[in-house]
Amino acid sequence: IREDPEAVSFYAANYIKQRILEFGPTKERPFVLGLPTGSSPIGVYRYFVDFYRKGELSFKNVITFNMDEYVGIPRDHPESYHSFMFKHLFNHIDIDPQNVNILNGNAEQLDKECERYEKKIQSVGGIELFLGGIGPDGHIAFNEPGSSMKSRTRVKTLAYETVLANARFFGGDVNKVPKLSLTVGVGTVMDAREVVIIITGAHKAIALSKCIEDGVNHMWTVSAIQMHPSSMIVCDEDATLEL
Ligand code: GLP
Repeated sequence: IREDPEAVSFYAANYIKQRILEFGPTKERPFVLGLPTGSSPIGVYRYFVDFYRKGELSFKNVITFNMDEYVGIPRDHPESYHSFMFKHLFNHIDIDPQNVNILNGNAEQLDKECERYEKKIQSVGGIELFLGGIGPDGHIAFNEPGSSMKSRTRVKTLAYETVLANARFFGGDVNKVPKLSLTVGVGTVMDAREVVIIITGAHKAIALSKCIEDGVNHMWTVSAIQMHPSSMIVCDEDATLEL
């Protein structure tokens, strides 16, 4: 628990930096990092850029996989997760663009795109660390309430609550928010060797409480981390209001 979102970002960014640095010199393989979008990780990405600019961290040996993407908006739409990631992170660090993986929400065959993504993750040896945020309904990536805890990458319809929550990015207009997404599954996230989840704000307090004080429950998909052998939640004080 950290005081506020800024301290949460600082902690999470430093933690991941250490993991990448420790991994680098000892392992031949690249560090495979799972990444989220949303407002929660923006502070972490700002620190990553800062570390890179100060010469403290390189992403040359990092492969990334993003959690999810909207279906039905162009890749260069300002609110696509593709645009988000390049704007907040990839344009400012030394990652090889070939090492950036983001689901293609405009693929002709969405199911095939999801299969391809799972295979690609396997082909690089699986994800070392998955960073995530959650929605106020406790969803991880776009695994809305009711998603199977074993789910894999697939097409997912957004819950109305998520459409409402994300309308702020589309000029407040729910009609402009895509209703479909491609998302890694709960199982895909839980297969990562380590999972780090950022939860900030009083509006996520119920979700945090459901996640760690109630049982593992597919209606609050982030609760799956109770079963993960190496997981951590980094939250601010506001998010602990219901604990
Ligand atoms: C979207 C994303 C999630 C993210 C959530 C929370 O639904 N698909 O991966 O965790 O937003 O966003 P925020 O951090 O802005 O609250």
